[in-house]
Amino acid sequence: MTQDEMKKEAGWAALKYVIKGGIIGVGTGSTVNHFIDALGSVKDEIKGAVSSSKASTEKLEALGIQVFDCNDVEKLDVYIDGADEINPTRDMIKGGGAALTREKIVAAISDTFVCIVDGTKTVDVLGKFPLPIEVIPMAREQVSRELKKLGGDPVYREGVLTDNGNIILDVHNMQITDPKALESTLNNIPGVVTNGLFAHRGADIVIIGTPEGTQFIE
Ligand code: A5P
Repeated sequence: MTQDEMKKEAGWAALKYVIKGGIIGVGTGSTVNHFIDALGSVKDEIKGAVSSSKASTEKLEALGIQVFDCNDVEKLDVYIDGADEINPTRDMIKGGGAALTREKIVAAISDTFVCIVDGTKTVDVLGKFPLPIEVIPMAREQVSRELKKLGGDPVYREGVLTDNGNIILDVHNMQITDPKALESTLNNIPGVVTNGLFAHRGADIVIIGTPEGTQFIE
């Protein structure tokens, strides 16, 4: 089974958590793209979606799913999104697709975060995947210096601008022994918009696509 087949398995399995008549929070990435395809198959049974990126919005609208502005929706029952890594306490690294800030915002208004991943994304300790940080462009070098003081090796993601017009630094070799504490520390560096640690608001439910079948951690 390929990694993409595992992603598809997880993406379609997430339909189980789609509430009829509701507005669904939709993340970003290749696993979520499978979920959006699945959502298209039940589009007449939902009211619409709140999207975490321009890319997901385009895909949702192409399937005829109405996309609501996040400002017009106070609360969502469920948010469905992928991750780059997830640990046993359901903390995640996200942002491989540079959509972390909007993902964190939509996750924040959602009662339940359903994380959909393929079996390669589960880890005991976060940090092998470089931690993405969205940064205001003029703060790039200053934030890089601060990240080095914290023990990381930041690498500027060349040629990438986020949907919010900012840059991404991918931080290698970061020791992530306390994800919540590090998430707060990084947020305190002037110029950091968002960091890719989702620990204060981690996942509630995890769906893992594997060659042996779909696992649900509820
Ligand atoms: C997007 O910015 C990310 O947070 C994605 O959720 C994450 O990178 C997972 O992406 P894939 O589903 O493409 O692996």
